[in-house]
Amino acid sequence: MATPDVIYQSDTRFVKAMNSPRLNPLNPSPRETQESLKRSFAKYLAADVGSQAVGKLFDPSKHLAFEEPKHIHTMEDLGYSATSGVSPIAVSEPFHLFSEEAVNIMREEVLSKEVQEKYSYTSDIAPKQIRGYAPKYGKFIFEAWKHPKILAIMSKIAGVDLVPVMDYEIGHVNMSVPGNKVNYDSNALISEEDEKAIVGWHRDSYPFVCVLMMSDTTNMVGGETALRTGTGEIKKVRGPAKGCAVVLQGRYIDHQALQAFGGQERITMVTSFRPRSPRIRDDTVLTTVRPISNLSDLYGQTIEYQLENAESRIRDMLKNVRDAMKAGSTNVPSIKSFLDFEIQTFKKLNGEFVEEHLVPKGHLAEVCQEAAKRKKTE
Ligand SMILES: [Fe+2]
Repeated sequence: MATPDVIYQSDTRFVKAMNSPRLNPLNPSPRETQESLKRSFAKYLAADVGSQAVGKLFDPSKHLAFEEPKHIHTMEDLGYSATSGVSPIAVSEPFHLFSEEAVNIMREEVLSKEVQEKYSYTSDIAPKQIRGYAPKYGKFIFEAWKHPKILAIMSKIAGVDLVPVMDYEIGHVNMSVPGNKVNYDSNALISEEDEKAIVGWHRDSYPFVCVLMMSDTTNMVGGETALRTGTGEIKKVRGPAKGCAVVLQGRYIDHQALQAFGGQERITMVTSFRPRSPRIRDDTVLTTVRPISNLSDLYGQTIEYQLENAESRIRDMLKNVRDAMKAGSTNVPSIKSFLDFEIQTFKKLNGEFVEEHLVPKGHLAEVCQEAAKRKKTE
């Protein structure tokens, strides 16, 4: 199976990795990260990506229009440690991903009457979001984001092998109300009070996101993603044009989507990803999604993938223990590290399942307040 150039674990390192409070034993130097970024996309994408396409609607020869990002910013470029997240990569510049035809098919699925009526959510930080409609009402969208070629592209850019977090998070859509055109300098360094956000300051619930632009941006100004660097400065990444995307390690970087002006619609599709390996630590929370989700689907799919990952780790550990017993030994530090990791993982996970009657629908302002508070204390 193909693996990305920057990866943290292999199975054989697992027991050793367990001794780390963070399941993240390798620490790539900035030079190693840069060298990994330079390695050929073509070579990587041509490799066996280790999974099957899920259907026949998405055809890469027609629907993929990938062009390598011109630049990928590392966590260290933004003033964070290379190991603060699950990858040393922070964010890509916008890159072409899907053909016009593909985006138009996606738009048809998202804008269909059933999806608009049954899957729309509103919150105090975003006016309209569409969630949880795939695969039932979004077969093409579902196939696209599950396609091995798309996963290979996401993984190569992110510097870690990725899969969609869960089906429920495939194709989340943000729709913004048109604003008025204003004089606007997209190159200026901004202060936090300067510009209006369509989604306020926050960190995502999941490690990586890919944000795809689904609207024509010809007359659009604004619409960038603002990132707060490790030193507290604000950096803006240009908004993508139709069919283009940005990959961001959003769980570990405070960010906000800035309002676009130009009197036109702005529809973006956000698909969330997690490391494919169950041996890489999972800092997933549900804080930004719980109030805008069908909790039965969200909770069911969250516990399902977490149990699958735990099952895989337990099987590996069981094999290690049996092998050790055959050799007449017992590795106590390894057993304790394993148990510590599982206890921590399940304890954290337990806190994410909040009884439905205690979840305030559409209330996300507190999540933004926490991000704002972090600015003052870090
Ligand atoms: Fe976000």
